[in-house]
Amino acid sequence: MLRLFCVLSVCLSVCLSDVNSAWAKFRREKYTSFVITEGVGDDGEPVETIEDNINTLKRRQEKERFQNFKKTYSLIEETNQNQKDFQADINDFADYSDTEWEVKLFGLNMTRRVVEEGMFAPVEAGVSSEEIPDTLDWVEKGKVTGIKFQGVCGSCWAFAATSVLESHYAIYGGNLKFMSEQQLLDCVYPNEDACEGGWYSDGWVAIRSRLSNELPTEKSYQYLGSTTSCIRERGDNALVAANVDYPQIVSVPYREHQRGPIYDEDLANAVALGPVAVAMRVINNFKVYKGGLYTEQNCRNGNPNHAVVVVGYTPERFKIRNSWGTSWGEKGYAWFDRRIQNQCWIAKWAEYPKLTNTGRADEKESTDPCKSMTCLNMGVCAPNKDKTSARCFCPVGFEGDNCEAKSCVDVVKRCPKSTSKKCKNRRYQTKCPVTCGSCYN
Ligand SMILES: *[C@@H]1O[C@H](CO)[C@@H](O)[C@H](O)[C@H]1NC(C)=O
Repeated sequence: MLRLFCVLSVCLSVCLSDVNSAWAKFRREKYTSFVITEGVGDDGEPVETIEDNINTLKRRQEKERFQNFKKTYSLIEETNQNQKDFQADINDFADYSDTEWEVKLFGLNMTRRVVEEGMFAPVEAGVSSEEIPDTLDWVEKGKVTGIKFQGVCGSCWAFAATSVLESHYAIYGGNLKFMSEQQLLDCVYPNEDACEGGWYSDGWVAIRSRLSNELPTEKSYQYLGSTTSCIRERGDNALVAANVDYPQIVSVPYREHQRGPIYDEDLANAVALGPVAVAMRVINNFKVYKGGLYTEQNCRNGNPNHAVVVVGYTPERFKIRNSWGTSWGEKGYAWFDRRIQNQCWIAKWAEYPKLTNTGRADEKESTDPCKSMTCLNMGVCAPNKDKTSARCFCPVGFEGDNCEAKSCVDVVKRCPKSTSKKCKNRRYQTKCPVTCGSCYN
């Protein structure tokens, strides 16, 4: 008994020190990178000022954050013990409470869903099974934009809507370009806070009706992570991204009793035509998913609460694109298991817009200097004053040179070295909105 106690207490203290060091690392990486070093003091130690209230807030909340982190840490341990096909690990949200997860990272709201008469197209016909490849990955085919980050807003529905539109637009003749979630947030639910959730096909319906078949690019109508007033035109920058004439939205049929052992063939067949937005239910182990085949079977106890996009499939798997940045999953992606029918609901509300014309928008943009520029991830291109050259910047935040639209409230990272040099006295930008450019403006 005594021996058992010793073994237990050794484990307990080891486990505890594990979580403590994991917290120290997480905290350092997430919260302390925006300390401003002003010089070296008499004692030889760097003198650091923390002048923004974000950090004060974080320090005040630190106890609570650590409690959340400990919960996540045990969830990760438990998941890794119980699951052999997929792995769990710490990501940028490891110190979120369950409520924060819902408010900041979900955003599917079924009660808002507008179902219009005649909105849905009849089932797609004419694609014979020989034309459908066994395996398909639209990411590898270069028809999917970089992983985005929805930040602090229940806007998954808008990200699913733009992602699908961007890809279909690129597959059916247009250029691949980032499109504006913010305009959808501002314009789709006029009298509501669109950060309290929505439905992806409502986004396409609004583009088709109120927005005259046009959606601006990300760079011309930037993501703010909160709802503001709907702007139809944005002066010089109102570049039209979509300009799509799509008569209908396709709702992929769902058949409960397709033949096993591989399910959801209708969904795979739809993905053969382009990425598809789907509703899913996020349960705890999905929050800490880091990679592998997500084999969870018990994720249909409750309504879907999140929207993601299916961007590919193999005979055994679906490839899912999320809008939680790249610290989550396999650089932002996940693999679902086709041996589980309608896993986490993904086959039940699968939808995509059927485009008929993607040509005109690119013509309109021919004088845009941003056209030939690629900004990584959520990097946004803006024309310089001369209007013939352009630069990339990060609208909400940044991570290295690779913008991820991190929310100012959550993560304010160091400016990339090349930028911080130009910032003379204030080497690190600490105010919202953070833009690499504003370091030296
Ligand atoms: C969903 O939408 C309804 C209707 O607009 C709203 O009352 C509700 O608060 C929303 N749900 C969430 C979780 O925000």
